[in-house]
Amino acid sequence: MIKLFSGQELPLEMHKVRIVQKLNLPNIDERQKAITDAGNNTFLLKNKDVFLDMLTDSGSNAMSDRQQSAMFIADDSYAGSETFYRLENALQKFFGMKYFLPTHQGRACENIISETFVKDGDFVPMNYHFTTTRAHIAKRGGTVLELFKDSSLEIKSDDLFKGNMDLDKLEKLAAEKADKIAFVRMEAGTNLIGGQPFSLQNLKDVKKICEKYNLMLVLDASLLADNLYFIKTREEACKNMELNEIVLKMAELCDIIYFSARKLGCARGGGICSNNEDLIERMKEFIPLFEGFLTYGGMSVREMEAIAVGLEETLDFDMISQGPMFIKYMADRLIERNIPVITPAGGLGCHLDAMSFCSHIPQNEYPAGALAAALYITGGIRGMERGTLSEERDENGIETLSSMELLRLALPRRVFTLSQVMFAVDRIDWLFQNRELIGGLKFTKEPKILRFFFGMLEPTSDWQSKLVNKFKADFGDSL
Ligand code: F0G
Repeated sequence: MIKLFSGQELPLEMHKVRIVQKLNLPNIDERQKAITDAGNNTFLLKNKDVFLDMLTDSGSNAMSDRQQSAMFIADDSYAGSETFYRLENALQKFFGMKYFLPTHQGRACENIISETFVKDGDFVPMNYHFTTTRAHIAKRGGTVLELFKDSSLEIKSDDLFKGNMDLDKLEKLAAEKADKIAFVRMEAGTNLIGGQPFSLQNLKDVKKICEKYNLMLVLDASLLADNLYFIKTREEACKNMELNEIVLKMAELCDIIYFSARKLGCARGGGICSNNEDLIERMKEFIPLFEGFLTYGGMSVREMEAIAVGLEETLDFDMISQGPMFIKYMADRLIERNIPVITPAGGLGCHLDAMSFCSHIPQNEYPAGALAAALYITGGIRGMERGTLSEERDENGIETLSSMELLRLALPRRVFTLSQVMFAVDRIDWLFQNRELIGGLKFTKEPKILRFFFGMLEPTSDWQSKLVNKFKADFGDSL
């Protein structure tokens, strides 16, 4: 943050834009039609109909000039490519781990780790689940146990490390069921509770318990960049540590680290790292089976070059601070307007609390999904529902009500300008003033697994037309 003469703080961009992509802002009638055609599911919108794509930071971060130029010198070969060795070397430096198995993206790592280590009846304790992680574990008959603290699910909190694991819960579980625990998983930048970090101290304490009960510790490092920024800026004991020292310290505590390089490294791919040859040997055979040969694992060599450079750049404080600073700026502007958002502001994106934004919509009518559809109609802004819609029904077909109803507005790294952020703030503000107009959604087509990806829904009344009419009355024109 830079302090202006006026005293105001500004998240100044430490980069300049040299390649641009033209955007399109469809008018409000076109937006209403587009969201209807998409079954009120923002995943099913076409990107040409989206003005600000805040769906995710996955594979949509800006690349640096250094990454782009590295892509030109990629060594294209099925086996033994020099590109692989460059990426392997970059990872060895980054995590200090000897072995690396390449995969095409993060969930592919989860597939392989679950296939190798999770048996029917096993438990996998974690600070919080991620959708694809849980699906892969459940597919093998495993059960995810979330050992978060009470503060982790509080919307307004001053807990700087809401992603911490509750150590008492872990100790108790390990004492009772150590032989049934496949592994302990820690997720950096805990996605589904609002991109919230864990502290290095918490990871050390988790490791102590793992050692005591002989449990394997697995780190999901997909959102490591944000978590790293928060450790550096919020954890007193780490203030004077270099970023690479912090990463190496984290890695030292883990048996396996996996990541989505659609987030970490700002390109597209993934991988599994470890210092333990035996663990690697057990997973290795699945790479050619599911992913591709061991020296590319389903990734394009160009992307692999970009990841190698992206990892180096993740150790640059200017680079990793841009996302969290923009997110805090956006959250602060929303808070000034009394709009409910998750605090402290985390990584990945700004998270609106749909449970209170749309307190009149019952959870089985998907308040966060309804808010996502309404915000697209209002501003051409595409967010992602992270609430009951992203859950699955139980074996009796009963809805699993999510503990949080969030609309995640991702800020892919170095992609949006501050005026675009302020446009989003303004349209969210208008929607908040008119929130009583937002109604619920119901399924017209409901897939059984990961239904949020391609489920189709419709509004429970004509609320969307009323919202459109109010917008036209207030703004005069239709943009
Ligand atoms: N782990 C975490 C913490 C993630 O956030 C993701 C993806 C994955 C694993 C899976 O990685 O997409 O490369 O297969 N999160 C994306 C998101 C999809 O939008 O938050 P992937």
